[in-house]
Amino acid sequence: MKPNYYFDNAATTWPKPESVYQYMDSFFRSSGVNPGRGGHAMSADAGAMTYQARQMLAQFFGFFGDANRVVFTLNATDSLNTAISGLLDAGDHIVTTRLEHNAVLRISNYIERDSRIEVTRVPGNTDGYVNPQDIENSIKSNTRMIIFNHASNVLGTVQPLEQVAQIAKTHNLLLVVDTAQSAGIRPIKMDEYGIDVLTFTGHKGLFGPMGVGGLIVAENISVRPARYGGTGVNSIAPFQPEQYPQVLEAGTAPLPGIAGLHAAQLWFRELGRNQQRENNMPASDSHAQLCEYAIQHIHRTEQNHVEQIENQLKQFQKVKLVGKPRRHERVAVVNFIVEGMSAEQVGDRLDADHHVCVRAGLHCAPLVHIDAGTAEIGGSVRVSPGYFTDDEDMAALLNGLQDILS
Ligand SMILES: Cc1ncc(COP(=O)(O)O)c(C=O)c1O
Repeated sequence: MKPNYYFDNAATTWPKPESVYQYMDSFFRSSGVNPGRGGHAMSADAGAMTYQARQMLAQFFGFFGDANRVVFTLNATDSLNTAISGLLDAGDHIVTTRLEHNAVLRISNYIERDSRIEVTRVPGNTDGYVNPQDIENSIKSNTRMIIFNHASNVLGTVQPLEQVAQIAKTHNLLLVVDTAQSAGIRPIKMDEYGIDVLTFTGHKGLFGPMGVGGLIVAENISVRPARYGGTGVNSIAPFQPEQYPQVLEAGTAPLPGIAGLHAAQLWFRELGRNQQRENNMPASDSHAQLCEYAIQHIHRTEQNHVEQIENQLKQFQKVKLVGKPRRHERVAVVNFIVEGMSAEQVGDRLDADHHVCVRAGLHCAPLVHIDAGTAEIGGSVRVSPGYFTDDEDMAALLNGLQDILS
C-alpha cells in the first residue's frame, strides 16, 4: 500500500524518473559549481552539462537555431514575465485568451493598467477551445503579439497552435506560446510553426525539479532583459552583454535543476528508443524524433487513465464534468463538480479518507471558472493522472470516488 496516491500532475509531475533524482544528486556532488564563471575544470564540466541541456531542449521543442537561445529561468511564470515585459512597448496591443493561467493573466492586467498596453482576451467556446477566427478578428493596427497557452491547466484542452501560428505569420505578429501544460505531452515544433518565443517550466511534463524553467527565443527576435547582473562574461561592460543566453540570464544559474532537466531529456530519449524498438517504428537516432516517440507513448498512457476516470465519474448523476464534451485534443486533466458538495470537500475527503491527492479550487485560472460558471462555487475538482500513475493509484482513486459520490 502506498502512503499517497498522487493525481495532481498538472500542478507538478510526481514522481520523477529515477535517473533524474540520481543524476541531480551525483552531478551536484561532483560538479555542483558555477557554470561558465571560473576557468577551472569543474566549472567547465558544469558549463558543458548546461550547454548539452540547452541543445537537447532546443531539439525537443523543434528549435534548430543556436542552442544558446535556450535561456534558463526559474519557471514558466518567470519566463512569461521576461517575454512579455521584454517584447512590448507602450501603445502596443496584445491578443490573448480567457483560458490563461495567472502567469499570463496577472502580468497582462498590470501592463494594461500601468503601461498603456491594450489587451484583448478571447473567450473559448463551451468546450474550452479557442476559435482561431476569434483571434484573427481581434487583431488591430497596433497589435504586436499573440500570447496563449497551448494546453489549459483547468480543462486540458489543447489549442489549435498551428492555425494560430499561421495567423500570427500572416499578420506579422509576435507569437509567444506558454507550453507549461503541453511540453512533454504533445509534440511542439517551434521552427516549423513559427513560434517566436516558447516558454516552458521544468517541473511538469518535462520531469525536472521545481526551480527551473526557460524560454527559447527565435533567432530573429530580441527580448529586453528584465534582470541585470553578473553573467561571467564581459564583466567590464556596464550593461548586460547582448549575446544569448547571458543577456537574459543574470546571476547564478539553477544548476541542480538544469542537471535534472538534462537527465530527464536522456530519459525521454531512452523511452522513445524503447518505443521505437517495441513498435517497429521507423529507426532514428535524432533526439527530436526519439522524444516524439516518447511523447506519443506518454500521451496514450495518460489518456487511458483519463478515460477510466471519466467513465467512473459518468456513473454519478450528481457529477458534472467541466468542459465537456471534449471532441478534440487534450492533455490529462479531468475536472468536475459535485452537486451538494464543494470542490474543497471532495478534495479533502479524497485526501483524508483515501490518501488520494487531487487539486480543488480555481487552479490559478479564474477566468476559465468564471466562464464555466464554477467560480462562484469555489471552483472544481481537478484530477490529473500522469505517466507514472499505476493500477494501484487508479484503484485507490476509483474506489475513493465511488465511496464519496455514492
Ligand atoms: C498553463 C500554465 N501556465 C503557466 C503556469 C505556471 O507555471 P510555473 O508555476 O511553473 O511558473 C502553469 C502552472 O500551473 C500553467 O498551468
